[in-house]
Formats: sequence, C-alpha cells, structure tokens
Amino acid sequence: MSESRPHVLLLSAIVLIPAIAVVLFYQLDSFDPAPMHNSHVLQGAEMVGVGQLFGPEDLAYDPNSGLIYTGCSDGWIKRVTVNESVADSVVENWVNTGGRPLGLVLGHHNDVIIADANKGLLKVTSDGAIDLLTDEAEGVKFKLTDGVDITDAGMLYFTDASEKYSLNEMTQEISQGQPYGRLMSYDPSTKQTKVLVRDIYFANGVAVTPDQSFVIFCETRMRRCKRYYIQGERKGYVDTFIDNLPGIPDNIRYDGKGQYWIGLGKVTTFSWDLTTQSYPLVRKVLTIIERYIGRPHMKKNGGLLAVDLEGKPIAHYYDSGLSLITTGIKIANHLYCGSIAYPYMIRLNLTQYHGI
Ligand SMILES: *[C@@H]1O[C@H](CO)[C@@H](O)[C@H](O)[C@H]1NC(C)=O
Ligand SMILES: *[C@@H]1O[C@H](CO)[C@@H](O)[C@H](O)[C@H]1NC(C)=O
Repeated sequence: MSESRPHVLLLSAIVLIPAIAVVLFYQLDSFDPAPMHNSHVLQGAEMVGVGQLFGPEDLAYDPNSGLIYTGCSDGWIKRVTVNESVADSVVENWVNTGGRPLGLVLGHHNDVIIADANKGLLKVTSDGAIDLLTDEAEGVKFKLTDGVDITDAGMLYFTDASEKYSLNEMTQEISQGQPYGRLMSYDPSTKQTKVLVRDIYFANGVAVTPDQSFVIFCETRMRRCKRYYIQGERKGYVDTFIDNLPGIPDNIRYDGKGQYWIGLGKVTTFSWDLTTQSYPLVRKVLTIIERYIGRPHMKKNGGLLAVDLEGKPIAHYYDSGLSLITTGIKIANHLYCGSIAYPYMIRLNLTQYHGI
C-alpha cells in the first residue's frame, strides 16, 4: 500500500509529460492556414432527399438525364432528380452493391464506375448489372476502395484508402496512423490494375485534371492533395497540389469551369490533427487520452474549398455545425454537397455569395 503513491506519481508523469508536450506542439505548429480572404459561413443551405440519402459520400451528375448518382451506407446507388425547388427532387433506389459505395463517376458507355469500400472497383451497366472490375493489386486485396475518376480515354484512376483496415476498423486506422493507402489505375482494355503510388496516409478522393496531365489525389490524414503525373517527361512523378488544408479532405471534383471543389471534414481529434509521422509516441498517448478522457473541443468546421487549376484557394464555405462534408459538385449556380455523416445532400445557392 505504501508503494502506491510513487506509482501514481510515476504514472502521472508518464501520461502528463507527453500530454503537455502535445499541447505545446499543437500551439506551436502552424496547422491553421491564414484566414482566407474569400471565406463564407454557409447561409441558406437547403437539404435534398432528407431521410432517403444515408451518407451520400460522393456525387456524379449526368446532364443528359438530369440525375445525380450517389452511393449510400445502405448499399444503394441512388438517383436524385435535379429540380429548381428541392421539394420537387425525387430519390430512386437504383442498384444495391451489397457493400458500401463511396466514390463514383460516370463511365463512357452509359455506365457508372463505383469505388465500393467493401467490394472493390465496380461497374454498373445502364441496365443495372454489377461487374467487379478489380479488388486487388500486386497480390494485396483492397480493404477500403474509396475514390475514382476517369480520363477522356477511359482509363480509371482510383484509391484504396487502406490495405489494412476496412471502413469498420477506422479506430485502429486512426490510432495506427500508418501509410497503408495506394493510388492505382485500371485499364478496361487490358483489365490490368497497376499500383502507381504507395504509402499514402489514407488515400481518398481522385480527380483527373481537365488537360489529362495529372491525377490529383487527397491524402486525408496529412490534410493535403498531391498530384501524380500521367503524361510527359515527368510521368510517374508526384508533387504537392495543395497542403495545409483547413480540414481533412475527402473527395475532389472538377466543375468544368476552372475550379476544383474539395470536401472538407471537421478535425475532431488531436491524434488526427497532428502531423502523424513526426510524433508517433505522442499520437499513441493522445489516442489513449481521447479514449479514456474524451476528445478536446476543436473549433474547426466542415465545408468546401474551391481551388483553381494550380491549387490556389479561391473560396472557402464552412459552418461550425457541419462535421463531414465529403464532396461538392456544381450544377448551374448550385453546389450540391455530399456527406458521409448526414441522411441528405446539402444544396447551396452560389449566386448568394459575392465573388462566385
Ligand atoms: C424534376 O426533374 C426531373 C428530371 O429532370 C423531371 O422529370 C421532373 O419533371 C421534375 N419535377 C418537377 C416537379 O419539376
Ligand atoms: C439564388 O440566389 C439568388 C440571389 O439571392 C436568387 O435571385 C435566386 O432566386 C436563388 N435561386 C434559387 C433557386 O433559390
């Protein structure tokens, strides 16, 4: 019994010293980018398909049919009509993948290509048949197929967020903080899957640039997007497109008008927010603190960031009440936003904001 006191002291020191160090790091490290000139708190946001769209993580718009495709947590690929008034929008269950569809993009043959977290890369034909395109590369199965985009020539670029942890094992993924993500390509003509970039800290959304020279991919944990060169002398080279984002990036979508829209999640835990590879011990302690003591309140907002072709921020739309906004697509003057957290899409009327 008399020995218990030194033990308590020693234990407190073991826990407290790193905890204090973390708070110091957090204060000193310049995580927060300078406030952006063109930043807006969301106003007049409308909800589309309330109670019918469960975690519409990504959206793809078909201008010919006027339909938005989205994958939901109940496994359904749903189709939503785009109408002037959100009250007129109709949600239809189209095809159920039996998995968890995340990223999706229109194919070139009236098909839809889907990154399904549980199943791999899928193609759904216009008559609703589901084909598995690929679910492994270099002998390693995908665990969390996440984002996908297509080039004009039909080449598919996609990510596996983690080859180790599935969507249901996010807690382990977060506490481990290891780079288990891969960027890959799938060539429909040869049916070949190729690993292009490995060791990515949670590989997420993908966007092919309009000139077809790069593939941009989001590295969620590092709060940045990188560029993989798919053409020219520097083919195969990787550099940074944008870093130090004001939230964790999910999907990135090109709007056909000189801007990419990046869906940003609120940073809710210390351990996610720290530059992970720098402080592995600190991260471990933080995960323990968060598990047993609770998460510190972080004043960060979910929202969207519009960036230009060079990755320069143009506008930031956010709201303190939003947690995980995962995608944004522009249709006429509206921005339709997906989220993995809400049972609806959010629609913003961009004409209301100055500068856009
Ligand atoms: C909503 O949009 C769909 C698809 O474009 C269209 O068929 C339908 O008539 C529209 N509904 C209303 C009430 O405008
Ligand atoms: C969008 O906002 C503009 C400017 O406030 C307004 O004139 C327009 O009617 C709005 N559109 C819709 C569909 O609400």
